[in-house]
Amino acid sequence: MEKPILLKTLAGEYTSRPPFWFMRQAGRVLPSYLKLKEGYSFWQMMKNSELGARVTLLPIEDMGVDAAILFSDILVIPYAMGMGLEFTDNGPVFEKALVERENPLKDLNPDPSKLNYIYNVIDAVIDTKPENIPLIGFCGGPLTVLCYMLEGLGRRAEFPEAIKFIYKEKSTTKKLIDAITELSIEYVKGQIKHGIHVFQLFETHGGLIPNDLYMEMFLPSVKKICFAARESNIPNIYFPKGLGFGIKEITPDVCDFLSIDWHIPIDVARAHVHPDIGLQGNLDPRILFSDKKQIEDKLKTYIKFGQENQNWIFNLGHGFIPGIPFGNAKFLADWLKETNWER
Ligand code: CP3
Repeated sequence: MEKPILLKTLAGEYTSRPPFWFMRQAGRVLPSYLKLKEGYSFWQMMKNSELGARVTLLPIEDMGVDAAILFSDILVIPYAMGMGLEFTDNGPVFEKALVERENPLKDLNPDPSKLNYIYNVIDAVIDTKPENIPLIGFCGGPLTVLCYMLEGLGRRAEFPEAIKFIYKEKSTTKKLIDAITELSIEYVKGQIKHGIHVFQLFETHGGLIPNDLYMEMFLPSVKKICFAARESNIPNIYFPKGLGFGIKEITPDVCDFLSIDWHIPIDVARAHVHPDIGLQGNLDPRILFSDKKQIEDKLKTYIKFGQENQNWIFNLGHGFIPGIPFGNAKFLADWLKETNWER
């Protein structure tokens, strides 16, 4: 069988167009998913391997993406550390966030067996997926996971209580990061054992603290988690949203590909990121609320970049947003396949 296009690009091989997949491609815009969601809660879908696998594969049938991403969530790690977690209509809510506890370390009890239901979903995806479609596994970045654990929902998107805690309680923060890191490494290894082909680390809140503090306190953990993938020869992609100039400091020992958010033009990112690191990104998902003409005009600005850069995976600069018209998402997917990339 020919190697799937995404794996070719990750391996540095020639392809006639950039491969593409979309962050949050399963759980937000597909009419088929929204219909399923009427009958099941998120936990029900995640914990039922047949259903979880079906949702994982929906974007392949509905949009023709080049990869599937596991249907799960980054907050399964705090859940497996003993934090009660509900997914409500307003987002994820922990039973008791860590800043509300007298001793945030005391009741955490990491239990890797509380991740087993996810491995059953991976098994079911591997059993039922089309042969030419790789499966992307993932986990959350340490800062992002820690922010949710400390403050809960993050109703105020800047997580003020969590950041205050990180500055005030540095030694406890380090212990928490270590605990998240240790379980995440085990989780990545488990995902690999069950057959994922690519690993992505979602550091969605990477821009909440200054770069130097991020590099000092969190990057070592990122390295360790990504190394668990590298050790098994699984390509890894790191998405540090909002890192800004910090992307210059990311070295090839951290990741194979860097996923760029929508703040910086992709060619500017290319000029600053280490040349041995491939790029992924970075269309602003919100442009999909506009019309096809505006979307196409924006997409055309990527052709020259795609022509000149083989080590690039097309993606969004952050995940799909609820309410984006599915027709526009499909238009984007079709355009990417039908365009002559002049390579
Ligand atoms: O395409 C997919 O949906 C793949 C699976 C996936 C989910 N979450 C499913 C989900 C992935 C890759 C994630 C990652 C995730 N989860 C991130 C990082 C990426 C990003 O978008 O920034 C973050 C920060 C979370 C935390 C989280 N989980 C939030 C803020 C929410 C609430 C709102 C929402 O829809 O994202 C969730 C719940 C969640 N995760 C749902 C889904 C399908 C919605 C559950 C529901 O509708 O009840």
